[in-house]
Amino acid sequence: MIPVAAPQVVLRPMGECDVDAVRALDALVQPTPWSETFLRDQLADAKTRTLLVAEGADGAPVGHAALMVVADEGHVTSIAVDPTHQRRGIGACLLAGLCRDARARGLSSMTLEVRTSNAAAISLYRRFGFAPAGVRPAYYTDADGTTTDALVMWIHDVDDPAFDEQFEKDQS
Ligand SMILES: CC(C)(COP(=O)(O)OP(=O)(O)OC[C@H]1O[C@@H](n2cnc3c(N)ncnc32)[C@H](O)[C@@H]1OP(=O)(O)O)[C@@H](O)C(=O)NCCC(=O)NCCS
Repeated sequence: MIPVAAPQVVLRPMGECDVDAVRALDALVQPTPWSETFLRDQLADAKTRTLLVAEGADGAPVGHAALMVVADEGHVTSIAVDPTHQRRGIGACLLAGLCRDARARGLSSMTLEVRTSNAAAISLYRRFGFAPAGVRPAYYTDADGTTTDALVMWIHDVDDPAFDEQFEKDQS
């Protein structure tokens, strides 16, 4: 079963007040963090964007994740957990939150791109049922000019009740 909650965090929508903390977290774990302008633009478009933060005990974000809606598809555009909080179920909790949001929006599919070298994230996505569908060569270009291929992954049955049944029932 996939957890819908991690006991040490609370999931909530990201707000403008989180921008600095989210960018600081991204700087630790993302090879190409979003700019402040791009992040604020995402926050301003609630119709087609969902941004969540996992809030730790002191109220500060320890993880965040984002979904972009394109027609009946949900694109997972970001997910990150503070290195000192990784491997505690927070990434799974965030992804479950995006899946719940995709279902609530009536979407039928979810997709994402992930670096072919990112074994941790690929393992997380596989656990939720995302399946590899192809590779986009040299999809990512880092600041030093290095390129990395992207693995494209999909789930096509988000609107199937069986998809929901794989999640643990939230006891809260
Ligand atoms: C990917 C990431 C979000 C996972 O967050 P997390 O909170 O550590 O993940 P969880 O503790 O919820 O782990 C859930 C599953 O993910 C997989 N996983 C997470 N970290 C892993 C690792 N270091 N190695 C292998 N599998 C890993 C496992 O399948 C794990 O399930 P398990 O604990 O039952 O084995 C986190 O490693 C991260 O922020 N990475 C840097 C940013 C990034 O790469 N984002 C993805 C961009 S596409």
